[in-house]
Amino acid sequence: MPRELRVERLELGVSGWELRVGSWGRWVSMGALGFLVSACGGGTRAETGEPPASGRYDIGRTATPAEVAALDIDIGPSGVELPAGRGTVGEGAKVYGAKCANCHGVRGEGMLPPYPKLVGREPREGFPFGRDPKAEKTIGNYWPHATTLFDYVRRAMPFLTPGSLTNDEVYAVTAWLLAQNEVIGADVTLDADALRAVKMPAHGRFVVDDRKGGAEVR
Ligand code: HEC
Repeated sequence: MPRELRVERLELGVSGWELRVGSWGRWVSMGALGFLVSACGGGTRAETGEPPASGRYDIGRTATPAEVAALDIDIGPSGVELPAGRGTVGEGAKVYGAKCANCHGVRGEGMLPPYPKLVGREPREGFPFGRDPKAEKTIGNYWPHATTLFDYVRRAMPFLTPGSLTNDEVYAVTAWLLAQNEVIGADVTLDADALRAVKMPAHGRFVVDDRKGGAEVR
């Protein structure tokens, strides 16, 4: 019977409708089922799961340039992408106190996991992180670039409301974090040029892994 066949196809199809038809099928009459199937417009490619001839699924739409721009905010080590804006260490202290300290501690000392320590220069000599997994990594002892600190804070912090800081606030809180880590002075105003010029203590501790094949080396 054609109707039974259509139900059969729906049951073997993708999801949602066919499950419902399957369970209702235990107690609704074939007539009702027939109605359900036709109400769903049985046989369209969305219901059968068959790929359309065009190879496209006719869902979604092309992102607008504004939507792409809102996501296209990555800043690499060179910092060429850094936006306009500026912030002082003092302004950053206020941003940090209001929006970061509750998770990272008032001085950036961190809290119980998963809230990481952000401030600290120890150990000042050596770089034990590869050998000692317990060695605590901070901005001051581990991050090789200051530019990517701006990137990370802007895209990921505050943890519960990422993207909520203005560029000036990100410059300011980045300045405060760098000053607390004794990387810049307390009187520095950070903007794109100043941030690009910052050299981190761990700069030069990392190499590009360009090995090909073979076992992983640590
Ligand atoms: C609600 C809690 C919360 C708030 C508020 C918050 N953070 Fe975080 N932060 C986290 C957590 C959790 C992580 C670890 C995320 C991970 O490892 O994926 C983190 C990671 C970080 C890191 C990376 C640390 C590292 O070395 O890996 C930085 C830098 C940072 N936060 C800065 C900030 C700044 C600046 C603010 C304020 C603007 C802020 N955070 C506010 C919870 C928070």
